[in-house]
Amino acid sequence: MPVEPTSPPTESKSADRPVLSPKPRVLSGIQPTGIGFHLGNYLGAVRNWVAMQDDFDAFYFVPDMHAITVPHDPATLRRRTRESIAELMALGLDPARCTLFVQSHVPEHAELAWVLGCITAYGEASRMTQFKDKAARSELGAATVGLFNYPVLQAADILLYQADQVPVGDDQRQHLELTRDLAKRFNSRFGGTFTVPAPYIPARSARIADLQDPSRKMSKSRPPAGTVYIQDDPKALAKKVRSAVTDTGREVRAAEEKPGISNLLNILSTLTGRGIVDLEATYADSGYGAFKADVAAALVEFVAPIQQRYRDILADEAGLDAVLVAGAAKATAVAADTMRRVRAGVGFLPLGSRSG
Ligand code: TYM
Repeated sequence: MPVEPTSPPTESKSADRPVLSPKPRVLSGIQPTGIGFHLGNYLGAVRNWVAMQDDFDAFYFVPDMHAITVPHDPATLRRRTRESIAELMALGLDPARCTLFVQSHVPEHAELAWVLGCITAYGEASRMTQFKDKAARSELGAATVGLFNYPVLQAADILLYQADQVPVGDDQRQHLELTRDLAKRFNSRFGGTFTVPAPYIPARSARIADLQDPSRKMSKSRPPAGTVYIQDDPKALAKKVRSAVTDTGREVRAAEEKPGISNLLNILSTLTGRGIVDLEATYADSGYGAFKADVAAALVEFVAPIQQRYRDILADEAGLDAVLVAGAAKATAVAADTMRRVRAGVGFLPLGSRSG
């Protein structure tokens, strides 16, 4: 069952915080892959990140180290990493209210991933479905050890910052379970070091479906016709919604046997804040055409100001550099403190000490 965003943290017992904050901590990341972020990324994750900035000590980052687990082009990765930060800011992340950073600027991620890899059983890493799915996709070439270790690096991302909650879409549930298991295992073998994080998964928008194949989740790696990108121009966007796959009926109703219409209802409901039942009543007599036109209009209205902000933020190169420098410094302060405790816990010899 999805966790309601409003539910209190269940099992996030905080170990002593390396940097004391009166607020619970939240952390999440989004990969700089593909041509940009899509509606599933926003509705399933980033929307919650924005909402949590004030009530939580919030850490958000772009996991560029995760992005090299599949074949990639270095120049594109560099460009996409900058664009991703700009896009997150355009979507509402405010570096004055959260710590926004790039993963590779904090090398402690890799160091902790190594340590956690040494308490991860080969069998439990082999059970990760995202690894199995990606490894099976022939266009990505042969699966690498990096891809296999991906969930362990993700656990390191989360545990480094002693996160209480991790707002993600439904597809990250298994990685969060592994993270919790590794935190508990490390704590019981080497002493309480890590906060055990709780997933924070929206009840309704945890899995936005592909518009062309509603049995699949919307994804950066699927063909663009079924994926609504935040940077899509309005015409392309309206066309994608108009040609979204639905069933042969004409009833606008959320139902298991109507996955396409249910998905569009979900999108419209999350964007407008109107309930599904209310929307069903509004479109009871109108058929799919008018309904789809309204979904498209709501999307165009939603993305227009974001696209403008994105262009402005990206154009201000010095401003973006300053955000990255400040974010890396704030993130490093926390990560370095956790790593000191991890090194002591596992028994690495401190430089200059003769006994332990
Ligand atoms: P990524 O980059 O694939 O996706 C970013 C976020 O978007 C959510 N999401 C969706 N939500 C609803 N419907 C969809 N169709 C949909 N597609 C994607 C994802 O659940 C995710 O929350 N492994 C992570 C990145 C990561 C991370 C972390 C996340 C690395 N380290 C530490 C949290 C904490 C990933 O690939 O997300």
